Amino acid sequence: MAFSKDFIWGAAAASYQVEGAWNDDGKGPNVWDVSAKYGHIRHNETAEVSADHYHRMKEDVALMKELGLKAYRFSISWARVLPNGIGEVNEKGLKFYSDLVDELIANGIEPLATIFHWDYPYALDCLGGWKNKDSSDWFLEYTKVIIDALSDRVKYWMTFNEPQCSLGCGYMVGVFAPFQKCSTPELLEMGANMFRAHGKAVKYIRENAKQKCYISMAPYGSIYCPEDDSEEAFNKAYNDSFKSEGERFPFSMSYWSDVVYLGHYPEDMVEEFGDQLPQFTDEEWAMISAPLDFYGVNIYYYKGYPSADGGYDTNWYQGRPHTALNWPVTPEAMYWVPKFMYKRYGLPVMITENGLSEHDWVCLDGKVHDSYRIDFTHRYLRELSRVADEVPVIGYMHWSVMDNYEWAEGFDERFGLIYVDYQTQERTIKDSGYWYKGVIEANGENL
Ligand code: NOJ
Repeated sequence: MAFSKDFIWGAAAASYQVEGAWNDDGKGPNVWDVSAKYGHIRHNETAEVSADHYHRMKEDVALMKELGLKAYRFSISWARVLPNGIGEVNEKGLKFYSDLVDELIANGIEPLATIFHWDYPYALDCLGGWKNKDSSDWFLEYTKVIIDALSDRVKYWMTFNEPQCSLGCGYMVGVFAPFQKCSTPELLEMGANMFRAHGKAVKYIRENAKQKCYISMAPYGSIYCPEDDSEEAFNKAYNDSFKSEGERFPFSMSYWSDVVYLGHYPEDMVEEFGDQLPQFTDEEWAMISAPLDFYGVNIYYYKGYPSADGGYDTNWYQGRPHTALNWPVTPEAMYWVPKFMYKRYGLPVMITENGLSEHDWVCLDGKVHDSYRIDFTHRYLRELSRVADEVPVIGYMHWSVMDNYEWAEGFDERFGLIYVDYQTQERTIKDSGYWYKGVIEANGENL
């Protein structure tokens, strides 16, 4: 049987994308709140209200129960809990997460918490953000507050969501808040501070959590797939997947995962950057690479090699299946990513995100007939079932539980199992939501 009896079937969302209530009850602004005011987001949309989850949390948890979810992966808004990023705690903001956790547990849903999913406090950004040498201590201060408040009930913790996007999109190519373009030495220092932040948070959780916790990061898994069944093709895909990509290292997997899970910079980065690489003391290395419990990974599609003539990449081709965001539909990624990650890092794998954007609407019969989302998820889950026979896979979180704010793309892109009408805030479970419920009930035996 591919999926274990206690396989964690769930869905995910992130604070900034669903909560709205951008300045309610004492919340401070984050870099997205501020950037949205300066024309960075499609149609100038903001997440000031978004799916209004902050005010509709109980209704939303009831819908999660209706979907049969066993887990909900959410993230905590740093500036809701600490409006200035450090210092005064906003008890009302903290209470929202405590109430959410209670509500989930009362409905039989396991809470999985992400500490940082991109909504960096604006007050700390003004102090230099990750460039500031104190930034890892700020992260620790925030972590302490939420661990002290929630770890009696929350067992699963992820430190950073897709750190590739935080650093690469936010500070290298400047397509995510705070829309900066930093130099390579700056990026290396910022990355080092993020590693220190991760390490300090893990140490605090291990020493102070009120119960045994399971900790991970949640990078995205971006790999090449072997082109045929040969060992040679496997080795080529595997080795290419873990290249750190020179100056594009913030987007690589090996930069984040080798440091955290193996305790060293990737060899090709050492060759490329030599003395430019920020150094860590032995004590810092031990903290940064302290053992974690599982390998969380977001999986959407695999990478293609660029074509020599400037045409399509190898996984993109004329007439290819692709989602509304123009991402290729490549279910095999769901087989190869866990396989590669297990081979390299040796930990059970949890799929912390997977899903697709489409431009759904409510049909005349009042339902959302998203057959493409069912087919997409069915294909990816079949591959997950195949790999779960070979490597330990402990859970799958569909992205997303409900439609929400897709960062710089605003609200055009809909990823949810639940449709949200942003004019009325009415929710409608999509066909895919009911289909997923059936998969959960059958523990994936019907895939
Ligand atoms: C990755 C991110 O973690 C999430 O916030 C985003 O909405 C989805 N992928 C889809 O782009």
